[in-house]
Order: sequence, then C-alpha cells, then structure tokens
Amino acid sequence: MKKITSEILRETYLKFFESKGHKIIPSASLIPENDPTVLFTTAGMHPLVPYLLGEKHPAGNRLCDVQKCVRTGDIDEVGDSSHLTFFEMMGNWSLGDYFKEQMIPWSYEFLTSEKYLGIPVKDIAVTCFAGDKDCPKDEESAALWEKCGILPENIYFLSKSGNWWGPAGTTGPCGPDTEMHIIRNHTEADRLGAYDFDGAASGTFLEIWNDVFMQYNKNAEGGYEPLKQKNVDTGMGLERTLCILNGKANVYETDLFENAIIRIEELSGLKYGQSEDITKAFRVVLDHVRTAAFMLGDVKGIVPSNTDQGYILRRIIRRAVRFGRNLGLEQGSLSKIAATFVDKYKEVYPELLHNAQKIYEELDKEEGKFLRTLQQGLKEFEKVAAALNAGDTIDGVTAFHLYDTYGFPVEITGEMAREKGLNVDVKGYEKAYSEHQEKSRAGSEQKFACGLADHKRETTNLHTATHLLHAALKAVCSPDIAQKGSNITEERLRFDFNFARKLTPEEVAEVENLINSKIKENIPVVMKELSLEEAKAQGFTGLFESKYGEKVKTYSIGEFSKEICGGPHAESTGELGTFKIVKQENVSAGVKRIKAVLQ
Ligand code: ALA
Repeated sequence: MKKITSEILRETYLKFFESKGHKIIPSASLIPENDPTVLFTTAGMHPLVPYLLGEKHPAGNRLCDVQKCVRTGDIDEVGDSSHLTFFEMMGNWSLGDYFKEQMIPWSYEFLTSEKYLGIPVKDIAVTCFAGDKDCPKDEESAALWEKCGILPENIYFLSKSGNWWGPAGTTGPCGPDTEMHIIRNHTEADRLGAYDFDGAASGTFLEIWNDVFMQYNKNAEGGYEPLKQKNVDTGMGLERTLCILNGKANVYETDLFENAIIRIEELSGLKYGQSEDITKAFRVVLDHVRTAAFMLGDVKGIVPSNTDQGYILRRIIRRAVRFGRNLGLEQGSLSKIAATFVDKYKEVYPELLHNAQKIYEELDKEEGKFLRTLQQGLKEFEKVAAALNAGDTIDGVTAFHLYDTYGFPVEITGEMAREKGLNVDVKGYEKAYSEHQEKSRAGSEQKFACGLADHKRETTNLHTATHLLHAALKAVCSPDIAQKGSNITEERLRFDFNFARKLTPEEVAEVENLINSKIKENIPVVMKELSLEEAKAQGFTGLFESKYGEKVKTYSIGEFSKEICGGPHAESTGELGTFKIVKQENVSAGVKRIKAVLQ
C-alpha cells in the first residue's frame, strides 16, 4: 500500500479517471441547489441528480470530482475514531455511458496497481447485492470481480440494507452497489463466522469505495422505476482512504488534521492522546471547527442562526466551544484553529481563503455569544441535574429555558444529560418552544386589536416594515443594497433592490430574524423634517431628487434605519407583528424583488 498525503490522493484519483476519458469538475457548494429534501450536500452524486435522471451535463457523460460533503445525523458520535461531520468524497460518474463491465476493472486497477494505490489483492473483500423483489441478485458484478482477480472467498452477497444505495431524501436515483473493503486484522474465526461489514466500527473490514449501479428511480410511492439511462456513481471517502493507506488508527491521525492538532496543543498545553477524555475533546473540536470553517467559507456561506443550516452550524460551533472548554481553550481559540484548516485546504478550496476573514469573525462572534452565557448555563444545568436521579428526565420547559436564556441547543442539553444518565423530554421542549412563539405572536396581535387594526394601519405598518427590510438587507447581504422600487397593498409589501442573486434560505432567515428582533425591541419611529443637506449629513438615505423640495421628512428607527421618506409610518416597531418573507423574484439580472407580509 502506498503511503500518500491527501493532496496526492486527490490528484491520483482525478488523474486516473481523467486518463479514462473523464472530465474533472469542481466540487459543488455544500448547500444543495433546489433540493428541499436535505440541508447539506451529503454525497458526491447529490449535485448531479438532474444529470443522473437524464439531463445533459455540459462537461459530458464521464465526470469525476472531489466533493465537499456534510452529514450531521451522527453528530453526537463525533469524538470516536471514525465519525466526521465533514468529509470529502472522491467520485466518478457515467451518465448513461459505461456500466459495470467497465467500472469494476477500473476499480480493481486503481486499488491494486502499483501505479495507483497498490493494495494487495488478498486484502480486498467485495460485497455485491444479494437480490430481492425489486432487483435481481448481482451475479454479474461478482463474476467481474473474480475475473479481475479478487479471491472468490472474499466476495460476499448482502441484502438491500448493505448493498443498495439510495438518495439522502426519500426519492431519486438509486440502485444496487458493490462495495470494496480492506480486510484488517481478521482471523480464521472471523472468516467462518458472521462478517461484520460495518466499516470502521468493526475494525475488521474497512469500506474504502462504493460503486453504485444506478438503474432505478425511487418514486414518491416507494416504487422503483427503471431509469432511462443506466449510470455509474462511485464514492471513495478521502479521509477513510488516507487512514487505511497510511496505516493510521483513525482519521484524525491523517495529514489533514496534523497542523490543527499542533495548534490545539499549543493553545491548551495538553497533548492529543493524553487520556481518553482529552482525545475525545480534541476530536470534537477538530471535526467541528473544520466543518464550521467549510460551512462559513462556502460560496453559499451560511452563518449561525436558529433555523435550518444555520442552526446546525450554531450547534456545531457551540458543541466545539463546550468541548474546547474541557481543554481549557480560551476565547478566540476556534478561529485560530480554523486558520490551520484554511491553510491546509486553500489550494483545493480557494473559497476558504477568500472567505477567511468571515470564517474567523463568525467563529469569534458565535463563540463569544455562547461563552457569555455558557458558564451560567452550565451552573443552571448542574443545579437541574443535581435535583434528579439517574434515569430521570429533564422536562421540556427546563430544556427550553436552557436554550432561550443560556443558548444551549436542545441537542447539547441532551448530550450533557446523557453523560449524567439523564434524559430530556424533547417533545416537551418542542411544545414549550412553539408555545413561546405563539405567545410572542399573540402579544402583538393584541395591540392590533386595540381599535387600531384598520386597513390604513396595515399599510402604514407595512411601510415601516419596508424600511426595516431595507436596513436588514444592507446588514445581512451587502451594504451596497439600495431600494429600486416599492409597492404596498393592505396584504403585503413588495421591495425591489439591487442584488446579483436571490437570497439563500439562511439569508432569508437572518433577515427575518433581524427584523423580528427589531420589532420585539419596540423601537420608536421618529420623524424629523430636515433640509436635504442636513439629512444627507446625518446619514439618511433615500432618493435624493428635487421632487423632495426644500425640506424633507426623515424617518429613523433607532440607528438601524434612517430614510428620507414621505411617510406615514407606525409609531413604533412593536406594532408590526411578525415579519415574514413570502416570495423572491427576479426583476432583472441585477435587481431582485422580495414580497413580505406581517402576520
Ligand atoms: N453515492 C455513493 C455513496 O455515497 C457512491 O456511497
């Protein structure tokens, strides 16, 4: 087996498939395009789904890449030797071109040839699909492997749970697969007994590569329809493969984490491997900081928030802070650790370098936010836990209090509870959460009910909401944003502004959250008549045209929004209710439109 670095492994893989007529394509964003079924790109094939379903790919029908992926389903497992939330998947695709007769010999060549990975044949086991009512037994693949030279006793047939690959969501292209495993430390007893193909977890068989023969589309009813074209989709985990090739015990000991480990050792004065607890804390920090850096540094970068991807990011950063605290890491450490990843990956993923400042700032910000309440929150948690016995459950209202007041995502409370043998009533937490939201909503509805809820009131409120939206877009998306048009009816506002693209779901959520927080603050809306010059000098924006005449009306909402405008407006933001963006549209290449309502 060849001992190689991550840089060489990526290159070796891509060059191999380039030599077989494949076009190398760049990694897609970590945030899936037009796919509401998953929050993150979870496999190399994910961004290629339209092409697997028959659309023409501009680069042709043989593609290969190294794709950034995130899987957060097992986030609480991170800290052991094999789970990672971020990983890179090397893959190659046939979009209706070659099929298994071609792919299996290539896989064999890449794995065993001295020119490539040089893995001894006797160390390779493969599994093939055993067959069921949806798809026949894959004798063909087994025969192809045997013909290449895989030992017949190392060829296994597994059922759908082991040898079938489907999409992360419920529907989409799928099919039987054949998986390649490296046999490690196996004994004759293993060979005679039940094999455990659970990859790294077993320590006996390590899955290194997966060739999927994508022939079906799983429809919404759960049926399997044959695809128009037969595809090949393969995936080889970069971290896992590096670990195997270099004879490392786990992924954290590969070159990918080397400098980050040194940095944490410097920052903490502790040594990786010093004790079980310390090693676990190192790994959580390593994994989570790397994942957070890739999320923040992505071309469609996200920032921590309370919904969707932003919530996962927040959870990841906060979990890193919590474990970092066990290592005695001081405030500002996460961004210093992230810098080692930016440096390690900057050539392969230049977006990390490009967005480095954002990565560091957001990490510092989120770390600071959580650290401000962490100490008190931990105290509060200890108090709660002390009053309970092992096996007891922390009730939902308490879990919500830990979230609302101290910023503990419920998953973190759950994990801390488990460490003490306690449970958390997650359903109760969700109930407390939604009750809280309803209460805030009811509060503002009551205000409407005080005889003020006529139509005029509604349009006036939407007008004020338009100013908040304008300011929030500047704050969240770009300070260069300016109003290009506005239209208000009783039901909704419409706001046109200069921006190159539609807002991402995270940006939408952030804009909404920011506006709703300003509404909650109940800031007075102050009108002043000023000369145009005075208004400009005081930082009011607006359409500075002669139509405003000598004096102009200015409206300010604290320091957040300052606009020249004819009015009328609400007296204070607390009157507005809950702001929600309902639609985004393209007006022209550089102008986007948002429609929003107050509920
Ligand atoms: N899509 C396959 C996987 O992720 C190759 O394992």
